[in-house]
Amino acid sequence: MFSTSANRENSNAEKYQARLKKFGREDILPLWVADMDIDTPSFVVDALKKRLEHPIFGYETMPDSAFEAQIAWMKRHHGLLVDRENMFFSPSVLTSLNLAIQAFSKIGDEIIIQPPVYPAFASSILNNQRVVVENSLKVEDGDYTFDLEDLKKKITPKTKLLLLCSPHNPVGRVWKKEELLELSSICLEHNIIVVADEIHCDLAFKKHTPFALLYQQTVTLLSPAKSFNLSGMAISTITLHDEELKKRFEQHYKAVHLGEGNTLAHIAFEVAYSNGEVWLSALKKHLQENIDELDKLLNTPNSPIRFRKPEATFLLWLDCRGLNLENEALADYFVEHGLGLNKGIDFGLEGKGFMRLNIGLSRNIFEQLLLKLKNILIEKNQCTTFTRKEV
Ligand SMILES: Cc1ncc(COP(=O)(O)O)c(C=O)c1O
Repeated sequence: MFSTSANRENSNAEKYQARLKKFGREDILPLWVADMDIDTPSFVVDALKKRLEHPIFGYETMPDSAFEAQIAWMKRHHGLLVDRENMFFSPSVLTSLNLAIQAFSKIGDEIIIQPPVYPAFASSILNNQRVVVENSLKVEDGDYTFDLEDLKKKITPKTKLLLLCSPHNPVGRVWKKEELLELSSICLEHNIIVVADEIHCDLAFKKHTPFALLYQQTVTLLSPAKSFNLSGMAISTITLHDEELKKRFEQHYKAVHLGEGNTLAHIAFEVAYSNGEVWLSALKKHLQENIDELDKLLNTPNSPIRFRKPEATFLLWLDCRGLNLENEALADYFVEHGLGLNKGIDFGLEGKGFMRLNIGLSRNIFEQLLLKLKNILIEKNQCTTFTRKEV
């Protein structure tokens, strides 16, 4: 099912289109932007084709049936119960994150992030002239977790929001209910609103706990974009779980007028949530096979590149400290070997020596990645079973 995928060269795909600008070369495998080199499910494409048979694209509102499809999905898969009236359309999760920052804080207020984390969290805070407060994740028993003692120290009367990435990009954690409960009790004590970016929740390989199940002062951001490879459709939702917060949010939401989304996005959204179960479980199996194969290749005793197997997402947080290269030099090293990855340092200072690799790839592209990684291992004398290939 995922053995090949459509050629994205010259399809205006950002990760291909921007290669020259970002990496200085076009002849690299682009494994940076977080979408997949995997075809969007055919049942979604078929529904879009059917709609195109109708020749009028006039005004629309986002249909209740689309919201209801997401509500039913969230109930079935994650046990989250939501009312349609508490949900709003948004073209992107990042739009929603910015709206929540604007609605629930003012210029100069402090907002907590937990780096290393998706870089747009910090930039959204700064773009809105709020103050970024870093509550870095800590490594415990070989894996990342919240540093709650540090969090308590960082909270001041100016702290209004915490941006939670759950599951976490880039470290791949699916936060345990107990971890989230501890976090929520600190937020409750200090009256902090939590913006829960749960865009990756349907790509969790273990049980995901929606933060809103534990904490009413949550703004939940959801989207089918990652799981069904629909980012170009620009459709997502914002859900409020508290009446007072909803009123405050709604006032701001009306003032910016986002519209209601577009005709094709409404269809893709509804169809994905209504019919996506079988496809998504096959996708998750495929992603885990990719991860397992890289685990075998990279996580050997003296490998200079290692990773913890992610509990969610198609993103691997590669620990490249064994290559002994600094930030630019490390990124350049991968480019020289034909790979365009994200620099770990872009996710926070904690990412020094790390790179983020996207393995959301069909088999034919994944094999190109394997060859390029094997060449690196051969160069580092860590791979005796392969001979170098020009790739
Ligand atoms: C955690 C997280 N939030 C938000 C986004 C962006 O979502 P959108 O394109 O809907 O703004 C990404 C994309 O990589 C992400 O990883």
